[in-house]
Amino acid sequence: MTLREKLRLTEGASAWKTVPVPEENLPSLFMCDGPHGLRMQDFTENIFHKGSKPATCFPTAVSSSASFDTELLAKIGKAIGEEAIEQGTDVVLGPGVNMKRNPLCGRNFEYFSEDPYLAGKLAAAFINALQETGIGGCIKHFACNNQENRRMTSNSGVDERTLREIYLTAFEIAIKESKPSSVMAAYNLINGKYCPENRELLTEILRDEWGFDGIVMSDWTAIDNRTESLKAGCDLLMPGCHLYAEDEVTKDMKEGKLSKDVVRQAANRIKAWVRKYGKVEGSPNFEKRTNKCDYDHHNTIALKAAECSAVLLKNDDDILPIKPGQTVSAIGRMYSKLRYQGAGSSLINPTKLSQICEHIKSDGNPADCDIAVIFTGLPDEYESEGFDRTDLKLPPEDIKLIEDTAEANPNTVVVIFAGGVVETPWIDKVKAVLYMGLPGQAGAEATKNLLYGYANPSGKLAESWCLEYADCPSADTFGAKDANYKEGIYIGYRYYEKNAKTVRFPFGHGLSYTRFEYSKLSIDDDTVTVRVKNTGARAGAEAVLMYVVSPEESVIDRPKRELKRFTKVYLEPNEETTVKFILDRRCFAVWQGSWVVPDGIYSIQIGDQIEELIVDGDDFTPITYTIPVYDDTPHTPGNFTLNDTPDFLSQYSLFAKSFVKVSEQIMLKKCGGERNNHFKMMYSCGIEGPLRATVQAGGISAELAKALVDSANGKHIDSAEHLLDMFIKKMKKD
Ligand code: BGC
Repeated sequence: MTLREKLRLTEGASAWKTVPVPEENLPSLFMCDGPHGLRMQDFTENIFHKGSKPATCFPTAVSSSASFDTELLAKIGKAIGEEAIEQGTDVVLGPGVNMKRNPLCGRNFEYFSEDPYLAGKLAAAFINALQETGIGGCIKHFACNNQENRRMTSNSGVDERTLREIYLTAFEIAIKESKPSSVMAAYNLINGKYCPENRELLTEILRDEWGFDGIVMSDWTAIDNRTESLKAGCDLLMPGCHLYAEDEVTKDMKEGKLSKDVVRQAANRIKAWVRKYGKVEGSPNFEKRTNKCDYDHHNTIALKAAECSAVLLKNDDDILPIKPGQTVSAIGRMYSKLRYQGAGSSLINPTKLSQICEHIKSDGNPADCDIAVIFTGLPDEYESEGFDRTDLKLPPEDIKLIEDTAEANPNTVVVIFAGGVVETPWIDKVKAVLYMGLPGQAGAEATKNLLYGYANPSGKLAESWCLEYADCPSADTFGAKDANYKEGIYIGYRYYEKNAKTVRFPFGHGLSYTRFEYSKLSIDDDTVTVRVKNTGARAGAEAVLMYVVSPEESVIDRPKRELKRFTKVYLEPNEETTVKFILDRRCFAVWQGSWVVPDGIYSIQIGDQIEELIVDGDDFTPITYTIPVYDDTPHTPGNFTLNDTPDFLSQYSLFAKSFVKVSEQIMLKKCGGERNNHFKMMYSCGIEGPLRATVQAGGISAELAKALVDSANGKHIDSAEHLLDMFIKKMKKD
């Protein structure tokens, strides 16, 4: 291969595949979203697409994480692998393990938790099972991609300890324990450097320290400076086929600014990846792809997954499950139109879908029935990839419905479908609350089974539910373009517990229709055991969470306790079992330039059981971390680039202003005239995203983008020349 061909290989051949290398018998490798089911596009289509092949829509990560069940994640990973084999893709773009730093993040539904250990372990289980089928995984979005607002240009300012202990840990666990075929570098910057151009992240930490040996691809259109991204260790620019900055990279190689070896190395890694995960005869993974795809069976997995991921938040007087013979008034916006998944790149075209009204018949008005059940939640336009939520409230009509119903019927039950935390100021007025999250295509049937007791709820919250949004650690700053992670390691329960702040429902909260009792916690060297007994009348599953409680006196400021192990056990009434966890030094470690263990008297806490443990720590000198200062030069006319956004440039140029107006009208037309979640997502990418991203996505030509930039820079003649170029190119093409 020539160097030019090697360079060509480091950009996709379309939105979903790599460039083939026929002389080495390497076909294109195909990729497909996503984390909770396949979104299989026509591979010839570009990024802006319509529809996808039917695939099983499993519960989204906000739900599956609440299962605290690695075996469940493995079942989902395997099933998605089987569908990938059947549908012909080679690599699945998931899972996403970003931390839930703030509950307003529009994409939280696609992420597991506010706790890095939980997210890392669930992701590892998913990836191991997926890759066992011969299909590759792609862990994303590496890293600190914790808001959707201005996600392509937002800068996450974060100190090193916080980065290591909170934002990188889930990636580290999953990469070490499951060796995903690929990593997707996130859109945002960290401390002033774009993730795909961040060598410390992509090479020093990921490869040199964690031993990652797959490929790194950019998130779709995430690359600003392609030379820098190659140097940093980002092998593949996605999507592809627009030859983004090839001339610039070639020039940089000629001028010695980029070593040719860097391009060769990226191309070699991509070839090795295709050899390992592509449709290459004789490759062990390709030969492994013998599993048959049974969509009906996968629907059953989706149903079980939704059942064991639901969280029973409140159940006064054991009003649930609904007893035989009780009359039920079933109402609310989601009774006949359930929200079962999120929106954006993870949107799945489900193989089956039923509504709650097909499973639960309503017996009449709330005042006339034994129980009133309200099916409520967040409508589509409230949360999606591409934009953040504006608040944590349910729609006002739904709050009124809850309050009016509770007044009419003291036995009111609320079932919530939402991709994250919602405020529940009405909680005292209702008897029970069941949180279904976004439960996937079998969500309606699962809801019925849970409400009637055919299934026993066993989910526990994987994120804290605050009393109100203002209580969140980053509430005062979240929403700005750039994110200042000034709360440091104190996100989620780490913050609420440290500051003794009351929450509505803590991390790990979840009720059951039976009861579990813990006893006999003991620690023997590195082995912790505890007895768990089902003391209630029904069979059920219990997520067992083990926390390490920090020493009261320590040279290092630390959270009160941190989740370090978990498992899930299923017990018949009266059945008892021993749960065993093995400790390692990382359970006690903090980041101080490396992982070190501070001396002290720690405790191990499981349920209501707690035992002390003296740990002989390491010698180290404590470091005080602060968020690094980075270059944040304000932009002024004259130095605008393709990395600026149309809405920003429109302040300086009439041409850019008209471009924004016209684009907005086109987007509106595409969305049937509605400012719905699709419109909001398109707007956030096309108008609030940098021009270079729209060029990479094939949305506009590079000449038009340059013309817009030059016009805002006041270089009107240059701008006109670019436009002329654009017309000439177009005419030649036509
Ligand atoms: C998302 C990724 C996704 C990719 C391809 C991006 O906008 O951030 O998660 O895999 O698109 O659809």
